[in-house]
Amino acid sequence: MPEVIETQQLTKTYEGGYFARQDVHALKSLDLAIHRGEIFGYLGPNGSGKTTTIKMILGLIFPTSGTIRVMGREDIASADVRRKIGYVPEGAYYPDFLRGEEVLRFYGQLYGLGGKDLEKRIDKVIDIVGLGHARKRLVRGYSKGMRQRVGLGQALLSDPDVLILDEPTTGLDPLARKEIRDILASLRDGGKTLMISSHELLEVELISNRVAILYQGQLRTCGTIDELLTDRDTTIEASGLTPEALEKMKQAGISAEDVVNGRGLLRVPKTMSLYEAMDACRQAGLAIGSVAPRRETLEELFVRIVGTARREELASATA
Ligand SMILES: Nc1ncnc2c1ncn2[C@@H]1O[C@H](COP(=O)(O)OP(=O)(O)OP(=O)(O)O)[C@@H](O)[C@H]1O
Ligand SMILES: [Mg+2]
Repeated sequence: MPEVIETQQLTKTYEGGYFARQDVHALKSLDLAIHRGEIFGYLGPNGSGKTTTIKMILGLIFPTSGTIRVMGREDIASADVRRKIGYVPEGAYYPDFLRGEEVLRFYGQLYGLGGKDLEKRIDKVIDIVGLGHARKRLVRGYSKGMRQRVGLGQALLSDPDVLILDEPTTGLDPLARKEIRDILASLRDGGKTLMISSHELLEVELISNRVAILYQGQLRTCGTIDELLTDRDTTIEASGLTPEALEKMKQAGISAEDVVNGRGLLRVPKTMSLYEAMDACRQAGLAIGSVAPRRETLEELFVRIVGTARREELASATA
């Protein structure tokens, strides 16, 4: 089965005009493959080329070179391929003199839907995005979270197989973010494929199956969350860390950090089993609060990858 979205050597150069004198190499030879039924997190600092990639996949701008396939097809601008992709743009504006359901009707008509089919689809979409209580209210009075739901609803009208979301949770409060995250995860569980570009790394870590990190138009890393986030030492939150207990832990090969009033964090080296570590704690008379396997966070990975890329860039500029 073909990949849902596949790019090969995809390159985009914005040519410098009168005001922008220099060409901008927004994307350089990008090879990307998005698998069916996954949430793919597309990450990178500002200006790294995420929106440029998305606009090319949608056929809104044209590649300078390279190819894009959507479900194996290269004619991505054709109406039936476009209908398979729903798009929620970054910070979308919806006419705020309309009611929520009117916005959806307007977009549905643009998609060529109408009559009873459209009304049924609007009901279905409103149900999916949870806007039932506010469908008859003017968009003017909507919160950012509700506007985002309208955007999501608009993208779902044609029941697309693929959803592309540019910054879906930016500016939302934690509860609204969780609600949007839950909707996205259930769409994935229902069989849709999602590509999400975002700077909210915790959000992306919580729902993505795979992520890619872009820097200055180049792909720096791509893989599943499990492949990319490296394991580190397990930590144990413990109390009863007297100077004698600390000495015993040190002898056992376990270091302690942030010790205040006898409470602190023990760092268990990867080579030691949890059983051994607990045994050492018991012998030192410690009380254990919690045990956390210490995996790198997506934010740490991002800082590591982008930091390395920046250093390489500086080194090659000064060489
Ligand atoms: N229409 C355009 N003309 C010229 N340059 C452009 C145009 N659109 C984008 N760029 C440039 O291309 C590069 C990539 O921009 P893009 O918007 O794809 O980045 P992004 O990763 O989406 O950034 P952000 O996280 O800020 O949304 C940037 O240097 C940007 O200034
Ligand atoms: Mg962008």
